Amino acid sequence: MWRVDVDLPGRPYPVLVGPGVRKRLGEVLPPGVRRLALVTQASVPWTLPDELPVARFEIPDGEVAKSLAVVGELCGRFARAGITRRDAVVGLGGGVVTDVAGLAAALYHRGIPVVHVATTLLAQVDAAIGGKCGVNLPEGKNLVGAFWQPAAVLCDTETLRTLPAAELRSGRGELAKYAFLGVGDLETRSIEEQVAACVAVKASFVVADEREGGRRALLNYGHTLAHALEAEGLADGRPLRHGEAVGVGLAFAARLAAHLGRIDGEDGDVVAAHLRVLHALGLSERLPAGADCARLVSLMARDKKATDGLTFVLDGPAGLEVVPGVPAEVVTEVLASHPREPAPRNGDGPER
Ligand code: GLY
Repeated sequence: MWRVDVDLPGRPYPVLVGPGVRKRLGEVLPPGVRRLALVTQASVPWTLPDELPVARFEIPDGEVAKSLAVVGELCGRFARAGITRRDAVVGLGGGVVTDVAGLAAALYHRGIPVVHVATTLLAQVDAAIGGKCGVNLPEGKNLVGAFWQPAAVLCDTETLRTLPAAELRSGRGELAKYAFLGVGDLETRSIEEQVAACVAVKASFVVADEREGGRRALLNYGHTLAHALEAEGLADGRPLRHGEAVGVGLAFAARLAAHLGRIDGEDGDVVAAHLRVLHALGLSERLPAGADCARLVSLMARDKKATDGLTFVLDGPAGLEVVPGVPAEVVTEVLASHPREPAPRNGDGPER
C-alpha cells in the first residue's frame, strides 16, 4: 500500500492507494463519527466494511447526476434519514459520485465530513483529491461548486481490475496530463505506483494553492477545450468521456502554444511529445467528427477560468502557465485545422 499525505496546514489528510484499501475505511474516519451516509450509484459493484451503521443513497448514473437538483434532493434525503454533523458522508464511486457527494457534504448543515472511496482511475488520480466538488449548469461544466477537503481518500486499485475499457481510457486522459506536470516516467511503473505518483503531484499543487489562486490552475491543462467538448457532447446526446476530452484538449493546447509562437513550430518536438504520450496511453488527439468550432469557442468563453477572454493553460519558454486573452480568431483557426475523427458512415453509431 502507498500513502500520500495532503499536508494542508491544520487539515492534513491521507490518501491510501492499493488493492483492497476500501476495507481500511474505519481507520481513516474522523473520530466520533456515528453513522455513514453512503453516496453511490447502482452501477458501482463495491461494498464497504459494515463497522458502522450505514444509510445508503443512490444517485443516477452518468454526468446527468452532476446537477444542483440531484445535490438538493440528496440533502433532503440526508435530512429525512436524520443525518447529523456527527455523521460522515462517504462517496463510493468515480468522479461523478465524488463531486456530488463532496458538494452535498459541503452544503448539508453547512458542512459535514466526507471520505472518498474512489473506484475509477479518473477519480483516483484527480477528481477525488484536492477538495474540488462541483456540478454542471446547462450553461457549462462545473460552474457551481465548492472547495471541501475530504477527511481521507481511499484509492482502491482492486476496483480498476473490473473497470470497463472506456472508463480506464478516460482515466488515462488525466494520467497524460500529469505526464506534463512533472510526474516522470509512468510506463515502467505498476498501476498502484502510477496512481500514487499522480496523487503526490496533485497533492503538491493543492498544498501550494488550495483555492486555485495561481499554481493549481495548471492542473487544468487541456481542460478548456475538454470542458467545451463535454458540454457540446452532452447537448447533442453524444457525451464524450472527461479523460478522452482531456486527451484532445492536451493536443490542442500544444498546437495552440506552437501557433502562438510560445513553443517550437506546429510539427515540432513539443507537439510531437504530446502525441507520443497520448498514443502510448491509447488516447486520440482527434476532435469528434461533428465538432462545431464556433460553438466550441463560445463554450470555451464561458469557462470559469475565462476571466479575461479565452483562457488556456499553455506551454511556453518558462513551462506551463495560464494565458488569458487568446484571440478568438486564433483559437478558431487552430481548432479548424485540428485533426478530426472520420465522419461515421450511414448506420454507424458514434465511435467513442
Ligand atoms: N482537477 C483540477 C483540480 O482539482 O484542481
